[in-house]
Amino acid sequence: MTVYGVGLGPGDADLVTVKGKRILESVDVVYSPGRLSRTVALNHVPEERIGDLDFPMTRDPDELRRAWKEAAAEVAERAESGDVAFVTLGDPNVYSTFGHLRRTLDAFHPAVELEVVPGVSAMTAFATALGVEIESGTGLSLREAANGAAPTGPDRMILFKVTDAPATYEGLTEAGYDVKFGRRLFMEQGETLVTSNPQEIAERDYYTLAYAEREGLERDVATAEFDAESADTDAVEPEVSK
Ligand SMILES: C[S@@+](CC[C@H](N)C(=O)[O-])C[C@H]1O[C@@H](n2cnc3c(N)ncnc32)[C@H](O)[C@@H]1O
Repeated sequence: MTVYGVGLGPGDADLVTVKGKRILESVDVVYSPGRLSRTVALNHVPEERIGDLDFPMTRDPDELRRAWKEAAAEVAERAESGDVAFVTLGDPNVYSTFGHLRRTLDAFHPAVELEVVPGVSAMTAFATALGVEIESGTGLSLREAANGAAPTGPDRMILFKVTDAPATYEGLTEAGYDVKFGRRLFMEQGETLVTSNPQEIAERDYYTLAYAEREGLERDVATAEFDAESADTDAVEPEVSK
């Protein structure tokens, strides 16, 4: 029997993939590591098929290893008699708790068959939500910016775990970046916010990311000049319609 790592997408139940939904509907038990992923899963699975796993709120490596060994033992036992899913927000292989489960199953329960179903990651969904285009031929780096950190270097960065938006904003703008923030993008839980004003999101919320782009970057794509033309057209449009 199989353990499926299913990516649920950023938090809107409609952004679960067709394959992810089919698996959630077919497995015997669905484990979720958090309240938000559980809420999304509940759109596709009745509550009686949601399993319980305990995770301590700790960074102590010994305690974490102990907790994951227990969790993996339970998942492996359930997988002896049926199919099981472990869900995570976004994609299971991007900054995700699924990595702990996979490593622990590989080490202590190598006979368990694992299959990963990718999900829409915040790493790509941010572009649509923030109205950003990552053009072909350009690079994009993923970084963390917890506790006011402001990593610099690449021309374009997506920053996860933004917990002090004003401090991150200050560091990045001083280093010559334009910055946009996104909070609870495509999420059913809580208010979605997209802003360039860090004061609007000064209050800490784990589901906050930022996109930073070096000021004045040239767009090296053939159709980029149409942007300028359409901006000109937009500018004269009101006069024409009068
Ligand atoms: C531990 S990572 C999980 C990433 C997830 N596995 C994925 O692929 O999107 C959590 C971080 O991702 C970002 N994030 C995830 N979902 C988000 C959303 N819907 N809106 C804004 N940020 C999000 C936040 O920066 C958050 O601190």
